[in-house]
Amino acid sequence: MARICMVICALVLFCSSSAYAQVVGSPSLSPSPAPAPAPPYVNLTDLLSVAGPFQTFLSYLVSTKVIETFQDQANNTEEGITIFVPKDDAFKSLKKPSLSNLTEDQLKSLLLFHALRHYYSLADFKNLSQLSPVSTFAGGQYTLNFTDVSGTVHIGTGWTNTKVSSSVHSTDPVAVYQVDKVLLPEAIFGTDIPPTPAPAPAPDISPAADAPAASDEAGSPRASKNASSSYRIISLGVWSQLVLAISGGLVLFL
Ligand SMILES: *[C@@H]1O[C@H](CO)[C@@H](O)[C@H](O)[C@H]1NC(C)=O
Ligand SMILES: *[C@@H]1O[C@H](CO)[C@@H](O)[C@H](O)[C@H]1NC(C)=O
Ligand SMILES: *[C@@H]1O[C@H](CO)[C@@H](O)[C@H](O)[C@H]1NC(C)=O
Ligand SMILES: *[C@@H]1O[C@H](CO)[C@@H](O)[C@H](O)[C@H]1NC(C)=O
Ligand SMILES: *[C@@H]1O[C@H](CO)[C@@H](O)[C@H](O)[C@H]1NC(C)=O
Repeated sequence: MARICMVICALVLFCSSSAYAQVVGSPSLSPSPAPAPAPPYVNLTDLLSVAGPFQTFLSYLVSTKVIETFQDQANNTEEGITIFVPKDDAFKSLKKPSLSNLTEDQLKSLLLFHALRHYYSLADFKNLSQLSPVSTFAGGQYTLNFTDVSGTVHIGTGWTNTKVSSSVHSTDPVAVYQVDKVLLPEAIFGTDIPPTPAPAPAPDISPAADAPAASDEAGSPRASKNASSSYRIISLGVWSQLVLAISGGLVLFL
């Protein structure tokens, strides 16, 4: 009898000590969190010279020194910057009104009109459209209107209706988005806007790719919750068996 009792006690001790070892052992196995890397410094001149071609916009930025204002803001990791950059083609196709007889200050304002004093990811524009008109780096009446058309960001100035056609760079704190047209502010060119042939926008029916992904995401936490609760049931079973074994051992002693 005493021998059986000792065996049970030894088993109980063994089981509980190995369970203890598992509990103690597991936290040390979990990987320590990696330190967040600092956002790399973005040289806007370098970025705009290799992408695009954005040579016309870049040379305007350099000749007016607006590039320094933009770089300074890009260095500000708290706020960051969002720049809308027209390709060289956009400047070529700009016949009326022309930029050639703008004053130096007007040209500066026009360039500043292409940037926002904050970093916005493309996803942020859904909210930004509700806040339209949004003030730009040029301040005052130099505002842009944003609308989100099934995930595409459309930009309106009164004179210009265009859209973001690609993302050149978008890592907090610097966003550079390519636009199809030069953004012309009413604050320079006035509100007497010549009527343009209504550009019939092709209905942008994007596939509802979000729907299955969303249900997948919703499904996985539920699955893991089930797994952890069944784990809890199993460990409860182990403990109740241990309690039974201990009380059995006590009964045998008495
Ligand atoms: C950014 O790049 C340009 C062109 O390579 C270079 O002339 C300029 O010195 C760089 N600016 C900084 C702050 O590194
Ligand atoms: C931006 O930061 C870079 C790197 O720290 C520095 O060399 C450059 O002078 C800064 N430029 C401006 C305009 O603040
Ligand atoms: C710019 O030049 C065009 C023709 O050369 C002229 O019709 C127009 O009034 C000028 N605009 C300004 C703001 O001076
Ligand atoms: C967008 O707006 C909604 C409600 O107005 C808010 O709940 C959400 O956090 C906002 N998202 C961002 C990225 O600001
Ligand atoms: C921008 O949006 C505001 C508010 O919705 C509207 O009053 C204004 O006319 C719009 N401006 C342009 C240029 O579309």
